[in-house]
Amino acid sequence: MESGSLALPEAGLLRMQAEWLAPARAQLLRQVGVGRRREVLDLGTGYGAVVPELVRRSRGPVVALDRVFHALARGEDFRGAERVAGDAVTLPFASASFDLVFSHLTLLWVAPLTPAIDEVARVLRVGGALVALEPDYGGMIEYPSEVATRDLWVKGLARAGADPYIGRKLPGLLARAGFEVRVSLFDTLFEPSVTRFAFLHDLPLLGEERAELERVEGAAGARGPWAEVAHLPFMLVTAVKREGE
Ligand SMILES: C[S@@+](CC[C@H](N)C(=O)[O-])C[C@H]1O[C@@H](n2cnc3c(N)ncnc32)[C@H](O)[C@@H]1O
Repeated sequence: MESGSLALPEAGLLRMQAEWLAPARAQLLRQVGVGRRREVLDLGTGYGAVVPELVRRSRGPVVALDRVFHALARGEDFRGAERVAGDAVTLPFASASFDLVFSHLTLLWVAPLTPAIDEVARVLRVGGALVALEPDYGGMIEYPSEVATRDLWVKGLARAGADPYIGRKLPGLLARAGFEVRVSLFDTLFEPSVTRFAFLHDLPLLGEERAELERVEGAAGARGPWAEVAHLPFMLVTAVKREGE
């Protein structure tokens, strides 16, 4: 798989992640008053897993942007949204044209990130908000150690061009860009399933790392209910653009 397309996992996997994060997303969108927000940008929309929710909950219109054109073309349900092919680092929009920018599992793939954050600040109106849900692979909690994959994720993601530590870095980056930042953590643990290894297979692992993944997969899932824990922390961030930024 070429490295640019690694940022876009299979649509079913994205749908599953969007389902897991639904309560956190609802809480953040409520926090920024989504029901009164007008122009909304879904930054790095992929196949548009969250677009129907943004269309339903905001006053719209919703713009779904991604740099991968075929995701926009093949996505499942973009009804009520305008699709735009573009890059987060140079957004093809006028300044102060959005009330809400939403971003879900995308900022870890955006490089360089600082200019992209400046772009989000530019396209938001004063009082406009960024809602971002991003993981921190360096903070994974896994038990027992025989089924731990954190180091494989960190190395594979970094090699693929993603930042596995985006979660812990994002609040500071946004504060430095002048946003008023609030952060919480996703608090629900799901019983681990072997589907957690699916995307890891697509990452560029070295020979011994791939062998380690196969060993872990062979050992996982055999111990009974809740005998294993695999938790990927998510930073849940709202960042409001202040006057004069
Ligand atoms: C893991 S997917 C998440 C997609 C979607 N937000 C979701 O939750 O289903 C990351 C998406 O970010 C997009 N992306 C990465 N870097 C980008 C950039 N610089 N500009 C626009 N989109 C980008 C990828 O093409 C991919 O669709």
